[in-house]
Amino acid sequence: MANPAHPAYPVGLRLAGRRVVVIGGGQVAQRRLPALVAAGADVLLVSPSATPSVDVMAETGEIRWERRRYQDGDLDGAWYALIATRDRAANDAASAEAEARRVWCVRADDADAATAWTPATGRVEGVTVAVLSGNDPRRSAAVRDAVVEGLRDGSLTAARPRVPGVALVGGGPGDPDLITVRGRRLLAEADVVIADRLGPRDLLDELPPHVEVIDAAKIPYGRFMAQEAINNALIEHAKAGKAVVRLKGGDPYVFGRGMEELQALAAEGIACTVVPGISSSISVPSAAGIPVTHRGVAHEFTVVSGHVGPDDPRSLVDWAALAKLTGTIVILMGVDKIGLIAEALVRHGRSADTPVAVVQEGTTATQRRVDATLATVGETVKAQEVRPPAVIVIGDVVRVNAPLTDA
Ligand SMILES: C[S@@+](CC[C@H](N)C(=O)[O-])C[C@H]1O[C@@H](n2cnc3c(N)ncnc32)[C@H](O)[C@@H]1O
Repeated sequence: MANPAHPAYPVGLRLAGRRVVVIGGGQVAQRRLPALVAAGADVLLVSPSATPSVDVMAETGEIRWERRRYQDGDLDGAWYALIATRDRAANDAASAEAEARRVWCVRADDADAATAWTPATGRVEGVTVAVLSGNDPRRSAAVRDAVVEGLRDGSLTAARPRVPGVALVGGGPGDPDLITVRGRRLLAEADVVIADRLGPRDLLDELPPHVEVIDAAKIPYGRFMAQEAINNALIEHAKAGKAVVRLKGGDPYVFGRGMEELQALAAEGIACTVVPGISSSISVPSAAGIPVTHRGVAHEFTVVSGHVGPDDPRSLVDWAALAKLTGTIVILMGVDKIGLIAEALVRHGRSADTPVAVVQEGTTATQRRVDATLATVGETVKAQEVRPPAVIVIGDVVRVNAPLTDA
């Protein structure tokens, strides 16, 4: 039995170019081999059979595989051994050889008979977390998960130095769970957050009191000037050596003016990290049970800005060409102009019966879906008092049933 008075001595093995022998090609090998390969080990697998993924690793040359049972002498030249067959006698023989040759040896079938234990491991941003807790792998895995998650989402910030600079973070459509892990971590490390009206605003409540939160929607200028004021705020705080997060709804580059902000910063010599986000254009339909593509229904989807109508000379959209496409059309910022847009699509050839769904405040507690057709959507949106933000989906995908979702 493992002696609790003598806990395992943790160590990081540098295995690059060094022989590691793995006996047995089943599930245990499948789980352990990728980390051994990543460590650069010269892996020799000895096993009459292997799982399909282990087989692929041998085919691609990541490991060498000798298709046979273990035999004495297999650990010759090994620095480390992993013994994981279903044959107890073979495991005992291999671990006896390891002991005799003083090769550290992990045994999948008998932790007490092993001379080394594999910790539960995880990697986050260049840090390896390895946890051993005696002979209790579940506890090790639980502690590992807690630490890895804390580092990922930024709740364990002490482990990472705060980095000044600007990050343009796509916050996703609104549900705080739909921001990326990287975005959430940067948010947790920020000194200043400049946030849009859309996106995961609930996350702002979690920020510590010292963080300065600037509401970009309340910057008191006209529409054009507001962007300039946001750019100036980014530049000013970056120059003051702060860690600044510009938190945007969806993805920063989908109708998000992200590149303008990046260019404004670049003009001042300030580098900026861009973190992609889940765009509302696909996630809001999805949250309402609508796939933007579906086999046999739509092979394309087109995301269009509806902030200016089809007859407005400022529109860069070729509405006639759009009407002729057969796939899904997703309109953002289109609530005000949807009547005119629907009319233009029908005028240019789309059937008036084409189904339309308008999804307001998608992924939030107040999400609401209103269904119509191109013929009726203008009136329906008014009658039902649909308000922005909403994503409008046009096409047969709207009628693809999703019986098992609770959207
Ligand atoms: C200025 S655009 C920004 C889009 C954002 N960058 C993205 O990738 O989702 C704002 C429009 O996105 C759509 N939108 C964003 N979040 C939404 C949500 N939670 N529900 C419905 N529509 C949303 C609306 O059409 C809104 O008018």
